[in-house]
Amino acid sequence: MKPLRVGLIGTGAIMRDAHVGAWTALRDEGRVDLVAACDVRRPAAEALADEHGIPHVYDDAGRMLRRAGLDLVDIATPNAAHAPAAMAAFRAGCHVYCEKPLAPAPREVRRLIRARDLAGKRLMTGQHLRFEGKHAALKRFVDGGVLGEVYYARASALRRRGAPGWGAFLTKRLSGGGPLIDIGVHILDLTLWLMGFPKPVTVSGVAPRKLADLKGIVNRPGWGEWKGAGQVFDVEDFAVGFVRFETGAVLTLEASFLLNVVEEESIAAMICGTGGGIDVSAGTIVTQEHGVMRVSRLENYATPKPHAAAIRAFVDAIERGGPTPVPAEETLVVMAILDGIYRSHERGGREVRVSAEPPRPGRRSKRRR
Ligand SMILES: NC(=O)c1ccc[n+]([C@@H]2O[C@H](COP(=O)([O-])OP(=O)(O)OC[C@H]3O[C@@H](n4cnc5c(N)ncnc54)[C@H](O)[C@@H]3O)[C@@H](O)[C@H]2O)c1
Repeated sequence: MKPLRVGLIGTGAIMRDAHVGAWTALRDEGRVDLVAACDVRRPAAEALADEHGIPHVYDDAGRMLRRAGLDLVDIATPNAAHAPAAMAAFRAGCHVYCEKPLAPAPREVRRLIRARDLAGKRLMTGQHLRFEGKHAALKRFVDGGVLGEVYYARASALRRRGAPGWGAFLTKRLSGGGPLIDIGVHILDLTLWLMGFPKPVTVSGVAPRKLADLKGIVNRPGWGEWKGAGQVFDVEDFAVGFVRFETGAVLTLEASFLLNVVEEESIAAMICGTGGGIDVSAGTIVTQEHGVMRVSRLENYATPKPHAAAIRAFVDAIERGGPTPVPAEETLVVMAILDGIYRSHERGGREVRVSAEPPRPGRRSKRRR
């Protein structure tokens, strides 16, 4: 197979820190050509290109897609720019790997699914937590049936003080939401994946801004400022949701950028069933056996760099066939739940119905997604 011609869109923090190394490793193996880098801040794209030997630089994704003859783009722009860039990439006949959240609104995810199918290409959301060694190992135990019937899950992504002062995380127009969409999305995707993506039916929740506007609230050192720094902080700073699934299972989700909790940062989940339970962050499994409780901890699992493992899995799927590792249909379930929490908040926390049905198959959707 000819190497895939890859273009990078959005050469900020996550592209520099976690993506580009995955692409250069695949280039070293002769599996991709790293052809172009694009950022609206041209110097940022030039710096990345210089450092990694990427021959072409653009400050406009449309121009790059018209001129560079690409097979695949990796999108790591602020959230609001994901869907426009992905739509343009499908029109140009590219596969798309895109950072989370794929698109803040479920209707945009549906549009992307349609565009993907029309183009006959693949679309993967960069939910890298699924590729952490511990999580991938736990998934094998869950798929082996250790949990029995799952009826309760708790997912949590809490920062005491950790509102990202860079980029576009605090401004709704650019991010689509606050901690729920930025870090809640990670732990919700991971938890649903471990649960086997049951179908959500209703959601209730609140997503207020309680601390951000108070005088004198500090941020985590090194995380930048919002007050007086030209940043519009109009997203929630805390959110909690309650989800009911068609199976009868329920899930709670909590997320914060600012919250008066003891731990500075915690990303955690637990899933409980009739046969056993798992603590996702601890990597422990609890079962009752021979009349006693047994708590066992996973050890000696592989520990790949998760972003790189996710990108590699996408390229594997394109080259070898097989399903896309994080299909947009699963992302649609995640985003429909998050959207449900925001809708419930607007209705004073009342329960709202959630539909995560993908759009009806289009002409070319018989191919593997
Ligand atoms: N998976 C993770 O662990 C993780 C971590 C951080 C960020 N992210 C996600 O990655 C994305 C980027 O976050 P970041 O921290 O790198 O932000 P960032 O602000 O550091 O980088 C974003 C870059 O995109 C550029 N850009 C903006 N609009 C563009 C457009 N239309 N075309 C091309 N370039 C454009 C900006 O100039 C900037 O250089 C966000 O969606 C965020 O949610 C994921």
